[in-house]
Amino acid sequence: MAKFLVENKGPLKGEVTISGAKNAVLPIMAATLLTDEECRILDVPDLRDVEVMCKILESLGVDVDADFDGNTLSLAAKNILSNETPVELVRRMRASILTMGPLLARTGSARAPLPGGCAIGARPIDLHLKGFELMGAEIEYGTGYVEARAKRLKGGRVYLDYPSVGATENIMTAAVLAEGTTIIENVAEEPEIVDLANYLNKMGAKIRGAGTDTIKIEGVDKLHGAKHCVIPDRIETGTFMVAAAITRGDVIIKNVVPDHVRPIIAKLTECGAIVEDVEDGLHVKADENPLVATDIKTLPYPGFPTDMQSQFMALLTTVQGKSTVIETVFENRYMHVTELNRMGAGISIEGRSAVIPGDIKLRGAQVMSTDLRAGAALVLAGLTAEGVTEISEIYHIERGYSEFVDKLRKLGAQITRVE
Ligand code: EPZ
Repeated sequence: MAKFLVENKGPLKGEVTISGAKNAVLPIMAATLLTDEECRILDVPDLRDVEVMCKILESLGVDVDADFDGNTLSLAAKNILSNETPVELVRRMRASILTMGPLLARTGSARAPLPGGCAIGARPIDLHLKGFELMGAEIEYGTGYVEARAKRLKGGRVYLDYPSVGATENIMTAAVLAEGTTIIENVAEEPEIVDLANYLNKMGAKIRGAGTDTIKIEGVDKLHGAKHCVIPDRIETGTFMVAAAITRGDVIIKNVVPDHVRPIIAKLTECGAIVEDVEDGLHVKADENPLVATDIKTLPYPGFPTDMQSQFMALLTTVQGKSTVIETVFENRYMHVTELNRMGAGISIEGRSAVIPGDIKLRGAQVMSTDLRAGAALVLAGLTAEGVTEISEIYHIERGYSEFVDKLRKLGAQITRVE
């Protein structure tokens, strides 16, 4: 199995350019099922998850032309050959559920294997199905799968008990071809929701309110192909901001939308790092004042993102003073604590909170990635630890970070990938 070997080689310095957002491109790729015309997507990150979504779309009958060197995808769902996502691909990526809304809208039925949970929690799809039902779909549970059917969906009013990102995306992509108007309340407000809505509107959809807590969709009869450039990945941005801080470095991060990372800018500033807007990006300097503790509570956007919790926790082990982290989005997103403690972090879990004592010099150790962001946190910890950190199960990391090793090396990091 491949591993990363990471060593502390001092502060990261230089410039890094962020790739397109994984969590924007995946729902946008699924949305191409809504038209029989060709769609072109630009700034596509070269990620395992994107490759898996390409395979899923191909299995549904979509013509896929992927040019990862040019970061572009051309997708044309001329004829849909199947309305069921293959189990072996669903197992590899929860986001495959995002094909359900478009398939239901385009073909009148969609069958999905019930998504297994994963390391960070049960991750049910009850809110997705609630939305489909409120638009007139019939939901049938089989052994290990769920099917939604509707000749044509009717606009409805849906209140999301939780502002679920996936449920918001699936209901939006189902509603764009429904008869009549759909109102979705208490929706997710993430930038990736806005990017998807912008793309759907380019296809001829009539969506208003994305980015607020209520989205209004007027159903149309047909959508046409469209070209779209994906927003930069705010979580990759945050990861490199923390990489600069944890190594007390000085890094320029390009292709950034500062508005999408306000909570991370605020928290790094509270820790004593200097974060400034520069042309098309951010400048993170952490080589002047000693960094100090702060507290983190993860919340749906615009709160502090759960996908940055583990990376920030790694930083907090190295600053002066005690910090507390509270994870409110997922019920089990502290798997990285055991691994960080193997490196001497001394973190304790008290209920939903993690208490980080701080003032620790981490030690290199053999650790394991338990999910995509936990793996990234271990790489960041390795950049500042004494001795070599050996990270296994790195396929998690490669699902969501394109050219991670190259980008870190260009900033002076000592990281190698070994089989
Ligand atoms: C998206 O997952 C992201 N994935 C996740 O990023 C991210 O952590 C998450 O949103 C929260 O921001 C993609 O966009 C592909 P949710 P999603 O539905 O849509 C509960 C990464 O690292 N819930 O907002 O699955 C659920 O159990 C990944 O890139 C229900 O109860 O997240 C969870 O506790 C990890 N019922 C909470 O809501 C439902 O029907 C948030 O889940 C749906 C969700």
